[in-house]
Amino acid sequence: TAPLRIALAGLGTVGAGVVRLLAENHALVTARAGRPIEVVAVSARNRTKDRGVDLSAFAWEDDMTALATRDDVDVVVELVGGSDGPALTLARTALAGGKQLVTANKAMIAHHGMELAALAEQHGAALKYEAAVAGGIPVIKGLGEGAAANRIDRVFGILNGTCNYILSQMESTGADFGVVLKAAQDLGYAEADPAFDIEGVDAAHKLAILAALAFGTAVDFAALDISGITRIRAADIAQADALGHKIRLVGQAELQADGRLFQRVAPVLVAKSHPLASVDGPTNAVVAEGNHVGRLLFVGRGAGDGPTASAVVADLIDIARGNATPAFGVPVGMLSAAAPADAGHR
Ligand code: HSE
Repeated sequence: TAPLRIALAGLGTVGAGVVRLLAENHALVTARAGRPIEVVAVSARNRTKDRGVDLSAFAWEDDMTALATRDDVDVVVELVGGSDGPALTLARTALAGGKQLVTANKAMIAHHGMELAALAEQHGAALKYEAAVAGGIPVIKGLGEGAAANRIDRVFGILNGTCNYILSQMESTGADFGVVLKAAQDLGYAEADPAFDIEGVDAAHKLAILAALAFGTAVDFAALDISGITRIRAADIAQADALGHKIRLVGQAELQADGRLFQRVAPVLVAKSHPLASVDGPTNAVVAEGNHVGRLLFVGRGAGDGPTASAVVADLIDIARGNATPAFGVPVGMLSAAAPADAGHR
């Protein structure tokens, strides 16, 4: 059968991880996809940088957007990042041309998810973003498809691997915030601009997406109330410990009785007996409560090349199989407007 031909935009930690995964797991990915998934063309800012992967078999485009207009490409994989700029131009061009789009870009989906989903529907293309939320955890598929029969009342969890790594390292080693942040950057967990991680913005991007999917509302990032972990000190962690708690950066979204959506990201005290308290390192955890399934808990690596590539390739396998689930579970026109409970609170 005809291969699924993909173009990769962005060859950072995740892009190189995708190339490696497709090479290492070639046989099983082909079997599960029902046909081979082949990288045809790539693009990144720097052509000569050594990424530890062999790119010699792929065409190179200096102009990233050109990937989206190649006749020999079925799917564009956007791993550039940034809510606007080249990533958004690429995404719009791909979808408007009827190409499928797979992205790990939570900032772009949080800000432009409705526009892109509408564009995808209009042109009969798929928009998939499993890697954008909670790294390797299949939570988009879990909530959007696995739990699709339920009314979800609440979704909350640990959505930033960098912050969780920092908090749990400070806890176990007593190290300083700055030292642990540097380690998280060296390990490839942190965003290019780590302010997005430690100020809670990255977790907020992911929460806005999860809330839309869980409650059937439009993505409404502007309504989020956000605080990060920049002001947490070793002394705060010690005090929490003395009280039988840990500090975790938690995102929570809830549909309130009046139909308004509450969405907040903040460092909170978590009792040591709560499942979120044992989530350490660059791990994410998502809890969702469905009215028939009950409480679901998803735990796994939320950052890093392997886990994020795992989610990207899962989306590619889905496309290869012809799974045409709409981006937010239902067509964009069926999503209700999110009524922000806390707009202006920031
Ligand atoms: N910087 C993000 C994190 C990467 O630390 O969770 C995954 O989105």
